[in-house]
Amino acid sequence: MKLLIINGPNLNLLGRRQPEIYGCESMESCLDRLRRRFPDVAIDYFQSNHEGGIIDELHRRGMDPAGCDGIILNAGAYTHTSLAIADAISSIEVPVIEVHLSNVASREPIRRTSLIGGVCLGVVAGFGTDSYRLAAEAFMERLQKNS
Ligand code: DQA
Repeated sequence: MKLLIINGPNLNLLGRRQPEIYGCESMESCLDRLRRRFPDVAIDYFQSNHEGGIIDELHRRGMDPAGCDGIILNAGAYTHTSLAIADAISSIEVPVIEVHLSNVASREPIRRTSLIGGVCLGVVAGFGTDSYRLAAEAFMERLQKNS
């Protein structure tokens, strides 16, 4: 099984950025933990601070179901603003799970709206870096059921 994690803007600073909201763990450490926990899963990682970069990666990996079984996307603030990312998710063949470190439903009103949630397979939010693990497990369960 192959999964791709895509992180959006400011998530390159994970571990150093507002640790009271997003925690102290870096993405490198989170990926390391995920790869050790799921040794049979190939987990690729892509991060961009640019909307177009995220869309290009969704197109590149999302149009090749043979090369990727699922995409775990934390679009950061673009979650709340980007119809273009929502359209990209609708356009590709590989399923996408939306994830957030923080519980966006309990934050400022703008963060309670997701333009992408409706076109994703599901949403995981509020569990810090564990949100990525929970999304990976959801994909694994789904693939096992479908095989
Ligand atoms: C976030 C939540 C977004 O509202 C915010 O803009 C982020 C991170 C999260 O993971 O909790 O950059 O996606």
